[in-house]
Amino acid sequence: MKYDFDKVIDRRHTDALKIDYVPELWSRDDLIPLWVADMDFATPPFILDALKQRCEHPVLGYTCRARAWYEAIVRWQQIRYGWAISEEWLNFVSGIVPGIAFCIHCFTHPGDKVLIQTPVYHPYILVPKNNGRVVVENSLKIEDSILKNKAFPESYSAAAMTIDWEDFERKAEGCKLFLLCHPHNPGGRVWNREELVRMAEICRRKGVLVVSDEIHADLTLHGYKHIPFALSCEAAAQNSITFASPSKSFNMAGLTSSYAIIPNPNIRAQFATFLENSELNLGHLFSFISVAAAYSHGTEWLDQCLDYIQGNIEFVEWTLAREMPRICMIRPQASYLIFLDCRALGLTPEALVRFFVEEAHLALNEGAMFGKPGEGFMRLNVASPRSIIAQAMRQLKEAYDRRF
Ligand SMILES: Cc1ncc(COP(=O)(O)O)c(C=O)c1O
Repeated sequence: MKYDFDKVIDRRHTDALKIDYVPELWSRDDLIPLWVADMDFATPPFILDALKQRCEHPVLGYTCRARAWYEAIVRWQQIRYGWAISEEWLNFVSGIVPGIAFCIHCFTHPGDKVLIQTPVYHPYILVPKNNGRVVVENSLKIEDSILKNKAFPESYSAAAMTIDWEDFERKAEGCKLFLLCHPHNPGGRVWNREELVRMAEICRRKGVLVVSDEIHADLTLHGYKHIPFALSCEAAAQNSITFASPSKSFNMAGLTSSYAIIPNPNIRAQFATFLENSELNLGHLFSFISVAAAYSHGTEWLDQCLDYIQGNIEFVEWTLAREMPRICMIRPQASYLIFLDCRALGLTPEALVRFFVEEAHLALNEGAMFGKPGEGFMRLNVASPRSIIAQAMRQLKEAYDRRF
């Protein structure tokens, strides 16, 4: 491997949310932080070099959108996903969560209904609610008994997370927006074409605009294929806003460099006007440089990173299956987040968190924060050097053996 993912990098005192916020959140500093969804690997050198090179110039004045930014995004979407987008479909958003908030303000009114699929990345619940919209939940089904992984009887395949279509159709009625998490966090599902088309058709029929958050798409794991929602069918293309970013895949979340892709000219114009009226889409110097660098030089690095993540996922799966059989995992099809099914431990959500924190000394996200169907689960981030993940598994096993 050309790049070194085994290297342990001390991130303390860099204002890293995942590390430096632990004492404030858990009132202790002896936890291995495996929660916030960023990676402990170095941001790739070709991104750091591009930023350093720009800093050689002594003036960091107002900036306009770099040509390289447009070209790199268009090329990346074409090569990676076969999606031929046009430059005029693009707009800058600082982050995808702000992007979701902009959509809520732009396309809905207070009191309007927003559809989500729980358990789901918690801002999908919080942002609509905090802005006076009504969250409607189409809970995902976890079909544990049907789809147990044959090789590892104690773990589920991520395909076990499925959509209750009757409920989706019913809940979509009267909603203004559907926030689609594709691939899904925390379930790790890469929705397939059939599912995407079905969502698109229901939403078009019921007049629900789809916001497809594809931030985890570049991290689709071997054996799975990410199909951009808008590419799945014409109904999807004409009724959607896609958000994407290299922030997860190239570990540059601190640079807040996301973008929107909107094929439909009317939706695009409405969104652009909303952003322009408050100058929300200006972007910043480092965002244009870093996105262009990531997408222009990133393929080899990303492939190696995915191999490493895959290895960590398999390591966790083996360890749980052999040593902690009452903790199952939903095997992700994309990204480095593993949803651990701890329901067989028989603990309340509060006791489960206490078990992880006080007994295993691990800082994970508790499943309940992703909505009620997440209760009894914990979300583990494995984008860390293998030695850290191995230490975390040792601590978990010791705690497990003492208790169960
Ligand atoms: C599904 C999903 N969307 C969005 C984000 C955050 O995006 P941003 O930092 O661009 O707001 C995350 C981060 O974990 C995520 O998992």
